Amino acid sequence: MSLFDGMSCGQIALNKLGIQVEKYYASEINVHSIKITNKNFPKTIQLGNVEHLREVELRELGKIDLLVGGSPCQNLSIINIDRSEHSQGLDGEKSKLFYEYVRALQIVKPKYFILENVESMSNEDRDVISKVLDVEPIMIDSALVSAQDRKRYYWTNIEGVEQPKDKRLVLRDIMEEKVDSKYYYERTYDPLDLSKKIVTRLHLNTHDLLKRVYNENNKCATLTACRGGYKQKKVYIENENKIRRLTPLEYERLQTVPEGYTEGVAEGHRYNMLGDGWTVDVIAHILSFMK
Ligand SMILES: C[S@@+](CC[C@H](N)C(=O)[O-])C[C@H]1O[C@@H](n2cnc3c(N)ncnc32)[C@H](O)[C@@H]1O
Repeated sequence: MSLFDGMSCGQIALNKLGIQVEKYYASEINVHSIKITNKNFPKTIQLGNVEHLREVELRELGKIDLLVGGSPCQNLSIINIDRSEHSQGLDGEKSKLFYEYVRALQIVKPKYFILENVESMSNEDRDVISKVLDVEPIMIDSALVSAQDRKRYYWTNIEGVEQPKDKRLVLRDIMEEKVDSKYYYERTYDPLDLSKKIVTRLHLNTHDLLKRVYNENNKCATLTACRGGYKQKKVYIENENKIRRLTPLEYERLQTVPEGYTEGVAEGHRYNMLGDGWTVDVIAHILSFMK
């Protein structure tokens, strides 16, 4: 069972490990994410809004071996540009959905569980989650398995999870060679410094995070849910002396999602669900410790 299933990265991870899934129950409300899940895994049983799942319905599902979920982090993450949503912690409108995960966990009593969330939350929120789940989180940075920095906490009762091996990937390793001209920016920018991870800033009248242009010889910063409006991550292409945004395919590679997996919805939705999603290889790594 997967709560806040998004585009079903949990299912991709199980699939990558060759684990046969008898039934995969998903709770998700975003129609675009559901469309992508159903395209790739037509047998997924969609349960709808987690808040509407009544106890009796959960019990009727029968034995659940594995419960996974990455509850929304808008109120926990420091990477949220909209300050009004930030700092409310676990009581925030979106992040309090964590308690729906706890409710399901207590009802279905799965053999294994994984809860994922941002590493940038407050220590108080982290400790509340650890206390409620009765386990300390393991912090894994997706940078070990991909070309993206993404520090996340994973609370799990799967024992003996170690850190994945470092694949030492950088942006250049996952970038497409030729991309459409629509991905390039014609904007001016600050002087370049190729020794830095952020090589320059585009001249845009917006939040500093959105101006940053990354070095192709380094890691990309954490992908976040975004639709358009200059929100995608940007990279400087040295041999072209040009700046462009990353493509949806590059976002897929940064999350170790199979290539083309999110095709079938508008590009904005692809970036959005990939920014919201899991790094599949981290989840597969954790699941590989199941007995
Ligand atoms: C951080 S994302 C999780 C992404 C997911 N782990 C994946 O593999 O793509 C949180 C997800 O929770 C979903 N969500 C928000 N409110 C929900 C609700 N009430 N019931 C079910 N899902 C919800 C959002 O649409 C979003 O896709």
